[in-house]
Amino acid sequence: MTIKRIGVLGAGLMGSGIAQVAATGGYEVRIVEVSDDLIKKGLSGIEKSLAKLAEKGSITAEQKDAAVARLGGTTKMEELAGADLVIEAIVENLETKRGAYARLDAICKPETIFASNTSSLSITELMTATGAGRRRRFLGMHFFNPVPLMKLVEVVRTILTDDDVYAEAIALAESLGKTVVKAHDRTGFIVNRLLIPFMLDAIRALEEGLASIEDIDNAMKLGCNHPMGPLALADFVGLDTTCYIADIMFDDFKEKRFAPPPLLKRMVQAGLLGRKSGRGFYDYADPKNPKPTKLM
Ligand code: 3HC
Repeated sequence: MTIKRIGVLGAGLMGSGIAQVAATGGYEVRIVEVSDDLIKKGLSGIEKSLAKLAEKGSITAEQKDAAVARLGGTTKMEELAGADLVIEAIVENLETKRGAYARLDAICKPETIFASNTSSLSITELMTATGAGRRRRFLGMHFFNPVPLMKLVEVVRTILTDDDVYAEAIALAESLGKTVVKAHDRTGFIVNRLLIPFMLDAIRALEEGLASIEDIDNAMKLGCNHPMGPLALADFVGLDTTCYIADIMFDDFKEKRFAPPPLLKRMVQAGLLGRKSGRGFYDYADPKNPKPTKLM
């Protein structure tokens, strides 16, 4: 494998998680953000997560220190010129991402592989922001939250992705201790194609008065051994993000099962976004002991 230096665009939850596992895996990592504050926030989140993993014995203190030493942050995209792979994990907005890829294409060496961590946008549409040469070296690498704990990466190819580049991205993900599933570039790939309708169905069941929030979640946790019920998971993903992905999938497939239910839309309009806003299907005032929200 030729990948040694990895650039990560975006130091949010996903970008910093990806940077963390890449640095732990032995790669030199540069994270690019738009401000020093965001870099500081991202790096401090990574250090906390590494400290937690070291405390639990998942990694040694030496591995933690070595990972921190391999990590750096910058506001200058130009510093990714020599990267072998750039993984983009910025805001889920087509035009913003396309703009970033066009800039990166001019900065990076011709061999650099471009990967997007998008969960809902078309990899092909992102790819066309780059020149003809890069398009063969462009794919999706979709990680899951929380990245340091979740084992899966969906590696997504377009019609134009080179076989060698695809194999290299798979080997890279495996070298980070992840299990890879291969998918073609269809909206939602594998996981969100199945997960989004599942979470939306749980919201519809709640809307129809089938059962309470807690009973719907307990049913799936204890009846199917899921780590979280679908409503708690929607809060974890973010209700705005869930609604956004559902809208894109509905737009693409025109199938009712992807349409965001009215309750979800109203919750997003009301600012109930899940864990990140402190309230969604549950109230997280006491994060260790969330209480169901009164919604109807
Ligand atoms: N780094 C290090 N440690 C972490 C961590 C992180 N980023 N996040 C959580 N932990 C630690 C916690 O601190 C905790 O440690 P402790 O045992 O010492 O207190 C431990 O992991 C377990 O966490 P919790 O006690 O909070 O709870 P759980 O045992 O339920 O584990 C979970 C948390 C791993 C998130 C588990 O609930 C889970 O697997 N949930 C499902 C997550 C999931 O489905 N994610 C995918 C979402 S979909 C997605 O990302 C795709 C997108 O496109 C929508």
